[in-house]
Amino acid sequence: MRKWIVAGNWKMNNTIDESVALARTVKEGTAGLKNGEVVVAPPFTALQSVREILTGSTVAIAAQNMYFEDKGAYTGEVSPLMLKDAGCTYVIIGHSERRKYFVESEETVNLKVKKALATGLKPIVCVGETDGERNKGITEAVVNRQVRGALDGIDKLDDVVIAYEPVWAIGTGLVATPPQAEDVHDFIRRLLVEIYGCAAADVRILYGGSVTKDNITELIAMEDIDGALVGGASLKADGFLGIISKMP
Ligand code: PGA
Repeated sequence: MRKWIVAGNWKMNNTIDESVALARTVKEGTAGLKNGEVVVAPPFTALQSVREILTGSTVAIAAQNMYFEDKGAYTGEVSPLMLKDAGCTYVIIGHSERRKYFVESEETVNLKVKKALATGLKPIVCVGETDGERNKGITEAVVNRQVRGALDGIDKLDDVVIAYEPVWAIGTGLVATPPQAEDVHDFIRRLLVEIYGCAAADVRILYGGSVTKDNITELIAMEDIDGALVGGASLKADGFLGIISKMP
């Protein structure tokens, strides 16, 4: 049985004080939760403070990005060792905003996934097509390329989480319909099984893109949707806890 994950990607939002307040409410609202995993991804500046709040809770911490070297002359970058040191368990890699605004290539995403795993961080690898790609009917080709690219040279998926996030659904309110999302999740699952064999049946595949407490129930009912990566709705405790309260 795959254990669900609800992960809140705070993106470039929240001061340290705001992050601490939100983390505290999430901690209180998820006390005793056993059936799934809750993850928050604060901005780098708040990681340490959020960790202090969440110590002893069941809520795990993710970083939103990392570099693929341990240390050195890479001005402005943050290394996986630093993220572990700051209390991260997970790291989001290859988010479409990184691919778009920071020109992350398949190769960079792959280097980051490899380095995260080598450092003991669990990557949440984001893939998904743009609306133009969906309209051209090449969604599966795009997702195939992104999944294969990200996982190239990786022989075990035990610590890997995939997030299918159609770019047209991110921050737009245009959530994919549950069957639309399930089609791609099923495609990803079959692809992973083709590459890795039946162990890939255990990989968690999250859906992301305009998830709210009002649409999560139908999404999570789909066979291959194992949770959600939530942006906007994770910035308010009631929205985020509302999603968690709907999980099976
Ligand atoms: P959204 O963002 O929930 O605001 O659409 C999701 C994401 O980018 O991970």
